Amino acid sequence: MSGKVGKKAIITGASTGIGRALAVLMAREGFQVGLLARNSQLLETLALEIRAEGGTAYWARGDVKDRENALASMKSLMEELGGIDLLIANAGLGAPTLIDPFNVADQEAMIRVNLLGVIYSIEAVLPAMVNQGHGQIAAVSSLAGFKGLPGESGYTASKSGLNTFMEGLRIQLRPKNIKVNTICPGFVKTPMTAVNDFKMPWVMEADEAARRILKGIQRNVKVLRFPWQTSLLMRLISWLPDWVVEKVMRDYNQNPPMPKSPLT
Ligand SMILES: NC(=O)c1ccc[n+]([C@@H]2O[C@H](COP(=O)([O-])OP(=O)(O)OC[C@H]3O[C@@H](n4cnc5c(N)ncnc54)[C@H](OP(=O)(O)O)[C@@H]3O)[C@@H](O)[C@H]2O)c1
Repeated sequence: MSGKVGKKAIITGASTGIGRALAVLMAREGFQVGLLARNSQLLETLALEIRAEGGTAYWARGDVKDRENALASMKSLMEELGGIDLLIANAGLGAPTLIDPFNVADQEAMIRVNLLGVIYSIEAVLPAMVNQGHGQIAAVSSLAGFKGLPGESGYTASKSGLNTFMEGLRIQLRPKNIKVNTICPGFVKTPMTAVNDFKMPWVMEADEAARRILKGIQRNVKVLRFPWQTSLLMRLISWLPDWVVEKVMRDYNQNPPMPKSPLT
């Protein structure tokens, strides 16, 4: 297969949205990319697109919430790439937290994919990175991880858990020469947010988000928050009294946008 020889990177959740945009951009920048998600057809199409442009891409169907499956699919990608320099653990799910009925299965799914899925993905690459004495691990979290939001408790919990997991890991992996980055975007136009029927503040295209993420990773930004306007808004919201936040989000909670397909 033709292609430039570059850094070897695995991107989880590469079939759509931010992960897909990252894969295209990174392949253009000379990375050899390993694509992982559950939708084989979308991955195969993407890999063909990248190869048609002269890039190098491999794909594997994988479900990051299933530890054995995640490890096996990541291993096969590492074998095809012939190693690993960078993991971008991007796969994620989002759904509102409802009260009646209390949708526990959705909360479980978000914790499994958004938190455990990242941990399993890291488990797959860590031994190789420790052995070779270098590597970089980035996880796509969210600006929503800095404040528990009414109607978004499960999602915000999964992302704030991810933030502190990555923070601890970053400090622990310093002496091993493995860089760790937490990526916290605001609203991005992707299939995940396509169901939102409200005006998303400072929403950006997936291509633009991918550009900022790659730049942040290349500059080894510890916690990348963008855009700054939404980042500032989240800080302001975290200082507001509960009654104000409840009032502001009341309309949203009366009819929250549900994902097109069930999470489980
Ligand atoms: N869009 C936003 O506004 C926004 C803002 C902040 C953070 N984020 C985060 O950005 C990341 C990417 O989201 P997105 O907006 O690009 O949404 P998206 O288009 O829905 O992409 C999610 C990706 O995750 C994959 N995925 C989901 N469950 C998986 C599983 N169990 N195993 C493997 N792959 C799985 C999906 O592929 P398959 O369905 O093919 O498996 C898809 O490729 C997520 O972590 C999300 O929380 C998004």
